[in-house]
Amino acid sequence: MAKRGKTVFVCVECGYKHAKWQGQCSSCGKWNTVVGEEPTTETHFKRWAGGEVGRVPVPLEEVQFGGEARLVLPDGELQRVFDGGLVEGSLTLLAGEPGIGKSTLLLQLALRLGPQTVFYVSGEESERQIKMRAERLPVKNPNLFVYCETWLENVLAYALELKPAVLILDSIQTVYTDDVDATPGSMAQVRECTAKILRFAKEKKISVVLVGHITKEGMIAGPKVLEHMVDAVLEFEGDKQYNYRIVRSVKNRFGRTPELGVYEMAHDGLREVANPSELFMTEMEPGTVGTVVGATMQGARPILLETQALVSDTTFNYPQRSATGFDLRRMNMLLAVLEKRCGLKTGGKDVFINVAGGLKTDDPALDLAMSCAIASSYRDLPVDRKTAFAGEVGLSGEIRPVSRVDLRLAEAQKLGFERMFLPAAAMKGLDVSGLTLRPVPVAKLSEALFALF
Ligand code: TYD
Ligand code: MG
Repeated sequence: MAKRGKTVFVCVECGYKHAKWQGQCSSCGKWNTVVGEEPTTETHFKRWAGGEVGRVPVPLEEVQFGGEARLVLPDGELQRVFDGGLVEGSLTLLAGEPGIGKSTLLLQLALRLGPQTVFYVSGEESERQIKMRAERLPVKNPNLFVYCETWLENVLAYALELKPAVLILDSIQTVYTDDVDATPGSMAQVRECTAKILRFAKEKKISVVLVGHITKEGMIAGPKVLEHMVDAVLEFEGDKQYNYRIVRSVKNRFGRTPELGVYEMAHDGLREVANPSELFMTEMEPGTVGTVVGATMQGARPILLETQALVSDTTFNYPQRSATGFDLRRMNMLLAVLEKRCGLKTGGKDVFINVAGGLKTDDPALDLAMSCAIASSYRDLPVDRKTAFAGEVGLSGEIRPVSRVDLRLAEAQKLGFERMFLPAAAMKGLDVSGLTLRPVPVAKLSEALFALF
C-alpha cells in the first residue's frame, strides 16, 4: 500500500518544520540543516487498512489504578522534593548551573541507594574521576555501576541488561543517538534522546534521572522543550558564596510543587539541612535596626527568613533603589504604600533591601516583614527580636491573608519567637490553644507600624 501523508522537512538544529526542502532554515538561519522526514503516522494507516496495532482505546472505568510504585529515597530532602519518593518508570530532569553540585548530589544518592542496583552513566567525567568523587563520600554501594559513554543506544542496551532501580545520566547535553544527524547538545539531539529515554523508562519501568545544564541566562541549555517532555523538573541552585544548596521541584506529574530541599555543601558531600530556618537566621544583637524576621512558606515547609533594609539620605540626584533576593517592583510598591498610607517619605532617600542568606522566594507573606524592616530603618528604631511577621500588603495598605498561618506560627514558636504579626483575616478558625507564642492580628500596615514604633 502506498504510504499516505507528505514528507515534512525538519531542521535538525532547531526542529522547525518546513513544507518543502530549503538550503537555509527559515527559523534559525543555519545552512544545510533541513532534512526530509517521513510522516510518522504509519500505525494509523495500518489501522485504517484493517492491519494490526499495539495499543487500543480502553474505557476509563476499566483502567486499573493502585497508585504508582514509588522508590523511597534514602535522602530526606529528595524524598520531600519528589513529594513521596521516586515513581517507578518516571523521567526526571535535574537542572542547574555548572559546578553547583549536580553530579555530587546524584552520585551520593546512587551510593546511598545501596544495595539497590544503580546505573550511573557519565558523559562528562571518567570512571577514575567518579571514583575520586565517591571516595570523598562516606557511603558505599556494591551494586553501583558506572559507565562513561555518550552513545545513547549503548547506554540503553546496558541499562536493559543491568535492570537498575535508577538510571542516572549525566548529562543529557553529552549524549547522542544515531537516529539524528546533529551534534550532541543540539536541540535535535537533546529532543530525540529525551524522547528515546522517556519511551525506555516507561516501557522498562526504570526510573531515569537526567542532568541538564543551565546556561548563564538561566535557560535549560538548548531545549526548553525538555521541560515539557519529562515527568518532573528539579532545579538545583545556591549562591556560590554560601555553602548551602537548594533543590526545588518546579514540575512534578506525581506530586505537589514547589517542594524544597536544603543541603549544605561539605567536604564529604551534601549534607541534609533538617532545620533551614536556623541556617538563614543570623545571631543578631538586640537593638539592631532595619532587620525583621518573616515567616515564609517554601512549598509545604515553613522557613523563617531575615529581611534587611537600609534607608538613608541620598547623595545623588536620583535616589538609589536596590533589592537582593526580593522583587524590585514589589519593593517599589511597598515604598509607595508606606508613603501614601503610613506617611513614610522615602521619595528622597536611598533604599536598599536584602533577604539574608540569599534564598530566592516569591512568597508574598514576606511583604509585612519587609515593610516593617524599611520602617525600622527609616525611623531608626529597632524591632523586637522575638517578633516574627507574616502578611501580604495590598495597595490600600491592608494586610491580606496568607496560606498556612498555622505552620508559620508553629515554626516561629519552635525557634523561640514570642509573638507574630499576622493578617486579622487569618485569625478566623485558627486554633491557638497549643500556642505559647502570641498572635498579633493586624488589618492594616499602619496598625502594625503603630504597634511597633
Ligand atoms: P559537581 O557535583 O561536579 O557540580 P556539577 O555536577 O553541578 O557541575 O561539584 C561541585 C563542587 O562541589 C566542586 O567544586 C567540588 C565541590 N565538592 C565539595 O565541596 N565536597 C564534596 O564532597 C564534593 C564531592 C564536591
Ligand atoms: Mg557534573
